[in-house]
Amino acid sequence: MKTILVAGGAGYIGSHMVALLVEKGYDVVVVDNLRTGHWQAVKGARKLYVGDLRDAAFLDQVFSENKIDGVINFAAYSLVGESVTNPLKYYGNNVAGSQSMLTAMKEHGVDKIVFSSTAATYGEPEKQPIEESDRTDPTNPYGASKLAIEGMLKWCDKAYGIHYVALRYFNAAGSNPEAGIGEDHNPESHLIPLVMKAALGQRSHIGIFGDDYPTADGTCVRDYIHVRDLAEAHLLALEHLEKTGESGIFNLGSGDGYSVKEIIETARRITGREIPAKIEPRRAGDPSVLIASNKKAAEVLGWTPKRGLEEIIADAWTWHSGHPNGYEG
Ligand code: UFG
Repeated sequence: MKTILVAGGAGYIGSHMVALLVEKGYDVVVVDNLRTGHWQAVKGARKLYVGDLRDAAFLDQVFSENKIDGVINFAAYSLVGESVTNPLKYYGNNVAGSQSMLTAMKEHGVDKIVFSSTAATYGEPEKQPIEESDRTDPTNPYGASKLAIEGMLKWCDKAYGIHYVALRYFNAAGSNPEAGIGEDHNPESHLIPLVMKAALGQRSHIGIFGDDYPTADGTCVRDYIHVRDLAEAHLLALEHLEKTGESGIFNLGSGDGYSVKEIIETARRITGREIPAKIEPRRAGDPSVLIASNKKAAEVLGWTPKRGLEEIIADAWTWHSGHPNGYEG
């Protein structure tokens, strides 16, 4: 049985990864500092180590106590707005945390890592759909911190033979109702969970950030991808590293774009709730359209997303209506 170390495994996407690995029979070890993650989200892992990636002695203990075959690193701060006002928090945690992880991998002879990157590495895109070879010019420190880590991975591959797959996520959403896990951020800033909270009456309405973008209905278009499809891509990435040892960078998106208004309309239909919406000013730094080309992930990893927008929103609704206070009750 293979042992996989999942850093950030108590977070939203990380916890869905843990559930999938456990389902597939892997031995799973999680490290998480629980600053933004929830211990309750870690289902079926053999061990949860609570500590910080930047603590070299802590990581050394984790690698010494377990024979790790591969690492998946989700551990990061991910609030775009906060990164603009506090860039050092983002470089300090995201970049230094990954540096520390790579150092421990080098010292313990672990040579495979799958890394959570982001569409924010592209910044304002040159064209749609976005391909991996397109220009990367992040418009915020969050995206810049992830791009810096991609660079670090490339050089560590050349110098130490640590092979990597960096996965640039578009808009992750949905949940895993069978595992009883879902999205629980505090504060929450993402569209779909906020729409769910408006459907539950926990918020008076959902604000639509701008309706004067150059899109069909004037609201921003994004590429929403089910969190379970994301998790499946990581598993394929690990298998790809094992088979070929070839590093690479891949977009993870559905290839379809939906506007903010379309998301709200779909959520009204699926939840049967009214979901009041109000037009509000644009949010700084939002590109009008972000749609992934997922061709490379299909060709090289054999990944194609299986779940569409309806399932994303239905699963988000199952989670939020069943856990109106998230993991707290
Ligand atoms: N939006 C609203 N109202 C809200 C919240 C969001 O209209 O209350 C809109 C945003 O303006 C945007 C869309 O809904 O057009 C999606 O917004 P999210 O905040 O859910 O997601 P983003 O596209 O801003 O962010 C995602 C990831 C980030 C990543 C970024 C890359 O969540 O981690 O894509 O651009 F950095």
